Amino acid sequence: MRPTIAEINLDNILHNISVLKKHIPDGTKFLAVIKANAYGHGLVDTALYLEDHVDYFGVAITEEGIRLREAGIRKPILILGATLPDEFPSVVSYDLHPAIAAKESLAALNREAAKQGRICGFHFKIDTGMNRIGFIDLTDFREALELLAGYPCLKFAGMFTHFAVSETPDPSFTEQQASRFELFIREAHERGFDPIIHAANSGAIFYHPSVHYDMVRGGISIYGYSPRGSADVVGELSPALTWKTHVSFVKEIHPGDTVSYGRRYTAESTRRIATLPVGYGDGYKRCLSGKGVVLINGKRAPLIGTICMDQMMCDITDIGEVSVGDEVVLLGRQGAEYISADEMADLAGTISYEILLSINSRVPRVFSVS
Ligand SMILES: Cc1ncc(COP(=O)(O)O)c(C=O)c1O
Repeated sequence: MRPTIAEINLDNILHNISVLKKHIPDGTKFLAVIKANAYGHGLVDTALYLEDHVDYFGVAITEEGIRLREAGIRKPILILGATLPDEFPSVVSYDLHPAIAAKESLAALNREAAKQGRICGFHFKIDTGMNRIGFIDLTDFREALELLAGYPCLKFAGMFTHFAVSETPDPSFTEQQASRFELFIREAHERGFDPIIHAANSGAIFYHPSVHYDMVRGGISIYGYSPRGSADVVGELSPALTWKTHVSFVKEIHPGDTVSYGRRYTAESTRRIATLPVGYGDGYKRCLSGKGVVLINGKRAPLIGTICMDQMMCDITDIGEVSVGDEVVLLGRQGAEYISADEMADLAGTISYEILLSINSRVPRVFSVS
């Protein structure tokens, strides 16, 4: 019903995965990071479409894992963020793999798995420089490994770390993180464990072949964007999301007329303006007021005045005939013109990730395959 939708081309996501796979050795497993509603692309539909083409899914929180299992996803699911003991009953019953960041969590997880009569797979998270979650101290990690003998209901399925700057041209901190990670890997191997080792996010997949290990975790690039933002377009990637609406009102304003809250735009000449039925209540960044552009008639129309919660205005004086009902592209391609999430991110002072996943649940996702 709504004229405002986000169209998701699922084949583009598959294509991007195949591009990323060209950068990793054959046999390396692929984890698709589909946390935060698959970076705004729709958690369940994306997962169902990708399931036969990836080895693992990565989510941020237990609820996302539960939604995937309830939708019938059978591939292993790793919860990348910290999981609290209160969540262990669901983690075990839905067969989700938590990231274990401290040895104290092991006993409670084993107890819950024993109670349910199941084996719970988990991954150890190693903190090599993000200072977010994970084992920092090697002695702590050794103790955790030794404790495992007493926890028969746990399966040490994987271990991972996360890079802070893998997308930047200077490789030194990533190399330092990898060297630190390798000390932890050695400890596990020396004790006879053979977990899946993984570290590489999109940046490391493209720019650090020495840290691909057994599995990589592709996030932003599977949705078609470079981890370097507008600084580097990875040419073969195809953005999967197009955000569209339709013109809801057209009018002429005259010199001295102002537009929208705060009267921050004053017409200096007679202008034609179009109103669009979308605003920051849909996740369109309010800070793009007076800076953003949209596409109508395959041409760029600048936003004018303050973006409202549910509506915003653009100047259509120079782009030909525009009528109520005409298609407007907020993000994506229209004719020869294109607005990328990187362009919007640069204007908004953020990154493509935030632009994509800010598009909220009021905007229906419409899925297509090409
Ligand atoms: C632990 C972890 N792995 C992988 C990723 C994917 O990173 P990217 O989207 O840069 O590929 C993320 C994203 O934030 C993450 O938190």
